[in-house]
This record gives sequence, C-alpha cells and structure tokens, in this order.
Amino acid sequence: MPSMFEIYLKHADRYDELVTREDYKGNLPATLHRLYDFTGKRVVELGTGTGRVTALYIDLVSEALCCDRSVHMLQRAKENLAAFTDKIVFKQVENLGAGDLLAGYGADTVIEGWAFGHTVSEHDADIDGTVDALVTGCRRIAGKTIIIESLGTNVEIPSPPNNDLLQFYTLLEEKHGFSREVVSTNYWFETLEDAMRIMGFFFGEEMGKAVAERGSLVIPEYTGIWYR
Ligand SMILES: C[S@@+](CC[C@H](N)C(=O)[O-])C[C@H]1O[C@@H](n2cnc3c(N)ncnc32)[C@H](O)[C@@H]1O
Repeated sequence: MPSMFEIYLKHADRYDELVTREDYKGNLPATLHRLYDFTGKRVVELGTGTGRVTALYIDLVSEALCCDRSVHMLQRAKENLAAFTDKIVFKQVENLGAGDLLAGYGADTVIEGWAFGHTVSEHDADIDGTVDALVTGCRRIAGKTIIIESLGTNVEIPSPPNNDLLQFYTLLEEKHGFSREVVSTNYWFETLEDAMRIMGFFFGEEMGKAVAERGSLVIPEYTGIWYR
C-alpha cells in the first residue's frame, strides 16, 4: 500500500476516485458559499491536489492561482478543470514558501483544503512555529483565509483525528482568531467492495477493515472550515 506521499506523487487517479465520492450531499459547497462570496474574487489556492476544492468556486471567481508541491496532482487538476483554463494558472509551490512567493500577487482570498494538516504533521517538532508560518504566509497573500481540514473519517462525532491536528486547530482558534464551522461530508459508494477498496487505498488497511465492519455504503465524515 503506498504512503500518502507516494499517492500525491503517482496516484492522482486513485485520489480522485476517493474525493469524487466524498460529500455526496454537497454540504461543503453550501457552507462555503454561505460563509464567503467568491464572486469576482482573485483566489490563491494552496495544496490544490486534483482540484476538488477549486471546482467548488471556480465558476464564480475572476482568477485562481492553483498551487501544490506535486506537479503530478496539478496535472490531474488541469484535466479536471479544463473548462476553466482561461482563468487558472497552475504553479508548483510549497505551502511554507507560499507567503514569500505570492505576497505580491494581489489576491483577495487564500484557500486550502486538507493540505496544511500534512505540513503541520511533517513539522510536528514545532507545531506552534509551523502554524505561525502558515497563517502569516496566508495573511501576506490575502486579507481572507479559508482553511478546510479533517474532523474525522468513519466517526460518529466531529473531532480532530490526531494530536497534531488538535494542536493545529486549537492554535487557529485560540491564537490566530479563526472561527470554525463543522460540516458533515459523508461518502457514498456504489458497492461495499468499492468502499473498502477506495477507503483502504487512501487511509490504509485498518480503515478498509473498519469500513467492511460498518457494512454501509455511506461512510460518515466531518470536515472543519476555519475562516478569518
Ligand atoms: C489530501 S490532498 C488535498 C488536495 C485538495 N485540496 C483536495 O481537497 O482534494 C493534499 C494535497 O496537498 C499537497 N501537499 C502536501 N504537502 C504539501 C506542501 N508542504 N506544500 C504544498 N502542497 C502540499 C499534496 O501534494 C496533495 O495534493
């Protein structure tokens, strides 16, 4: 089973298979658009991946600069968002370097989904400093920051999935003044075999087994939107 790092380097198709089953009720876009009006905005997106978050706002904005450290993921995003190529620029950017690189871009909004959590975990020896750097970077890019991260997959109540993320979210709320909105983003799969295979590939063997034990085509999930 590949690591997440390998998935983002080589398996954009398998990642896409997962996220197209996520949030089958469309709660994430409904909440996002209630919280923020993207109309005519110039957006910087960090950790774009295959463009799942981009697809939620791209029709409304004037322009988007879609960044990720994986060119492989951006290639898939380019294909998924082919209808909007006239207003998207794709760029290889590391989350922690984004502030320096993009401060002069003149964006209204910076948004990220499920990418900063990876950066925090990769730098878990200094989570406070890493969150400072990420948040300061966003502030240099735009006046509005929207952070979308996990509050648990295959769980009954929303909760940070591990201690690194608990610390990350607590810092966002208590040190950096972000507000949080909790969204139910359940997955729906056509068959139990699909659910086990697709969830197991991304989240690991244990998740595959847990999904099999649940025996349901719907896998509960919670997502947090932090905004400031
Ligand atoms: C879970 S995926 C999320 C992708 C997309 N935002 C979505 O919602 O589907 C994480 C993405 O973050 C990217 N990523 C992880 N660490 C990164 C970093 N330090 N700098 C830039 N991108 C990073 C990965 O390459 C991957 O595309």
